Amino acid sequence: MRHFNIALIPGDGIGPEVVAEGVNVLKAIEELDSGLTFSFTAFPWGCEYYLEHGRMMEEDGIDKLRKFDAIYLGAVGYPGVPDHISLRELLLRIRKTFDQYVNLRPISLLDPSLTPLKDKTEKDIDMLVIRENSEGEYAGAGDRLFKGNPEEVVLQTGVFSRKGTDRIIRYAYEEARRSNRTLTSISKGNALNYSMVFWDEVFEEIGKEYPDVTTYSYLVDAASLYFVTDPERFEVVVTSNLFGDIVTDIGAGITGGLGLATGANIHPEKKYPSMFEPVHGSAPDIAGKGMANPIAAIWSVSQMLDFFGEEKWGQAVLDTIKEMIGETEYLTPDLEGNAATSEVGDQFVKKLSKKQK
Ligand SMILES: NC(=O)c1ccc[n+]([C@@H]2O[C@H](COP(=O)([O-])OP(=O)(O)OC[C@H]3O[C@@H](n4cnc5c(N)ncnc54)[C@H](O)[C@@H]3O)[C@@H](O)[C@H]2O)c1
Repeated sequence: MRHFNIALIPGDGIGPEVVAEGVNVLKAIEELDSGLTFSFTAFPWGCEYYLEHGRMMEEDGIDKLRKFDAIYLGAVGYPGVPDHISLRELLLRIRKTFDQYVNLRPISLLDPSLTPLKDKTEKDIDMLVIRENSEGEYAGAGDRLFKGNPEEVVLQTGVFSRKGTDRIIRYAYEEARRSNRTLTSISKGNALNYSMVFWDEVFEEIGKEYPDVTTYSYLVDAASLYFVTDPERFEVVVTSNLFGDIVTDIGAGITGGLGLATGANIHPEKKYPSMFEPVHGSAPDIAGKGMANPIAAIWSVSQMLDFFGEEKWGQAVLDTIKEMIGETEYLTPDLEGNAATSEVGDQFVKKLSKKQK
């Protein structure tokens, strides 16, 4: 019997709405596979919790999470709590404490109708962005001096350690080698003369150990242009925390929007739990209306299953997502359909179950 213990942090806004559908998919898989079980423990952390308790998670929250195989998160952040508090005290805290230094964001076009780009098909947009997830520009290092004075100075320091840069770039080379794809590094060595010159050097140095991997290196401004004009250039991509955050939103824009964008926060050594979440936020504009697209959150379930070594199920979930996109009847309003979040979820489970029986 394979058993996985999953912590749920549905969070704020549409987070609980989409996580519920992802959990239904896992429960359906349990029914379909007699050798596989999951247990779920939900934690009520997020902005409402903050307004009541003055903190985003329980004091011993990190210790409570430590024993799980994975964390499944919806979204964090809501008007009424400053974003830098909600983000730093929950999401970034988990990523950092559990050393989830790899952020895996697949950018794959599931159907040509989803892209605003002319004449692009599934084979033109199919990449995996590997984003450094533990340091870089989001390290939280800096200072604010002489606050409110004319001499005010604000420093936000990008932190690029040898260990941190080395391990993410090596991870990307391994993935490119394993999947027999090209590897592109995105950086900005012309302007960021310390951090990104170092990044480029490490990319080149490690590359010597992978002569079989074809590599490219682009400045982030040029890469942003190519994401739109020539996405077919990219297969596996490795980049820093900030650049990865931005280019993957371009990636979401060319593949159907945030309702379809997923991201896994991985601690590859499995000493701590990894975390799976849709890329989108709490979407206060549509929260509570039953309009949120649950597909991004369901795609996170596929990533989680792959991470557990249940690739057969990860692929089955992804295949079902592709089928769902082909049927306009079960699309949410962001994809120009009329279906509610729960209708998409229910139909998904039906389809998956029918295929596997
Ligand atoms: N990982 C996270 O938890 C995360 C990520 C981004 C933003 N946030 C937080 O979420 C809050 C709102 O941020 P925002 O408005 O900039 O970004 P957002 O992702 O919540 O929403 C941006 C736009 O995309 C739409 N959208 C997002 N997800 C959707 C879905 N599943 N289905 C249909 N439409 C969807 C929204 O309706 C909105 O118009 C902020 O507090 C922000 O800090 C959290």
